[in-house]
Amino acid sequence: MSVILAIESSCDETSVAICNNGKITANVIANQTIHENYGGVVPELASRVHQQNIVPVIQQALIDAKVSKKDINAIAFTRGPGLLGSLLVGVSFAKSFALALDLPLIAVNHMHAHILAHFIDDPKPSFPFLCLTVSGGHTQIVLVKDYFDMEIVGESLDDAAGEAFDKTAKILNLPYPGGPLIDLHATKGNPLAYKFPEPQIKDLNYSFSGLKTAILYFIRAQEKMNPDFIQENLNDICASVQHSIVHILLNKVKKAAKQYNIKEIAIAGGVSANTGLRKALEEKSEELGWKVFIPAFQFCTDNAAMIAIAGHYKFINQEFVGQDIAPASRMEF
Ligand code: KG4
Ligand code: ZN
Repeated sequence: MSVILAIESSCDETSVAICNNGKITANVIANQTIHENYGGVVPELASRVHQQNIVPVIQQALIDAKVSKKDINAIAFTRGPGLLGSLLVGVSFAKSFALALDLPLIAVNHMHAHILAHFIDDPKPSFPFLCLTVSGGHTQIVLVKDYFDMEIVGESLDDAAGEAFDKTAKILNLPYPGGPLIDLHATKGNPLAYKFPEPQIKDLNYSFSGLKTAILYFIRAQEKMNPDFIQENLNDICASVQHSIVHILLNKVKKAAKQYNIKEIAIAGGVSANTGLRKALEEKSEELGWKVFIPAFQFCTDNAAMIAIAGHYKFINQEFVGQDIAPASRMEF
């Protein structure tokens, strides 16, 4: 029997979840809207808002899960990777809370947790499976051999897929984070209206910086002829950009599936909320006989439920860390 309280604060979401014997009974997420007008997350502002939100979010999670502090058996927290100032708030709070309640501490790697979000609900993938982890900071194809035995077999050499969405959105004058807005406009546009070049990168790796530049030059050229080009064609531009990103992402997953002879394929991370990616993966599953795993929307973007489930499996292994633990903004996979 175990009740794990988990804290996530790696970027701009303050989240606390409770996992009761492998079941998530609370998952409170406080989003930070303050960054919308800055075109990206402002680290200094993010840590301050975490500081304001963390206690109310903990209190709400305890209410939602109908547990009291004395019922908790361990505190799990995101150690990294992420923004140092943001991580410091969660890690310091977790350590103080654990000290006050005399509880063990569980350190969780944020990128492992995105993948382990697939173990929150049924159906769960079986090992080994491949997971395309696509977020604001990472794009990785991961060979998942066990809960904490994972190998990156391909990754982006420059921008992450989420960055490709967000930077394109910025070019299109859409607020941050632009990914969900591109997704929304894309549903009303023609994905084949404009064609962007596919990067020729070796092995299972990705590159998205060239695509961003190609989009920028294309838009500039079009605006010279028609200053209202973006406004008049926003849906088609979004649909075409999304189509390109999804195509690039899944081409390498297809290659990895063949190379490792694996047919269980999962997606994880913020960009796995993208409806175009979800639909294209479903189509691939029919075409290639894959069994695909697509997380519920609430477990795609940053949340503490995924930290709590990772904490649950670490608690089973009694894998605890000491009070001298520090956050790691560039935590190794
Ligand atoms: O995993 P996440 O919440 O935070 C990080 O760990 O980075 O991912 C955030 C990223 C952002 O780049 C955001 O634009 C993107 O996920 N994102 C989306 C969608 N929802 C979130 N990108 C495309 N379509 C979406 N529906
Ligand atoms: Zn994340």
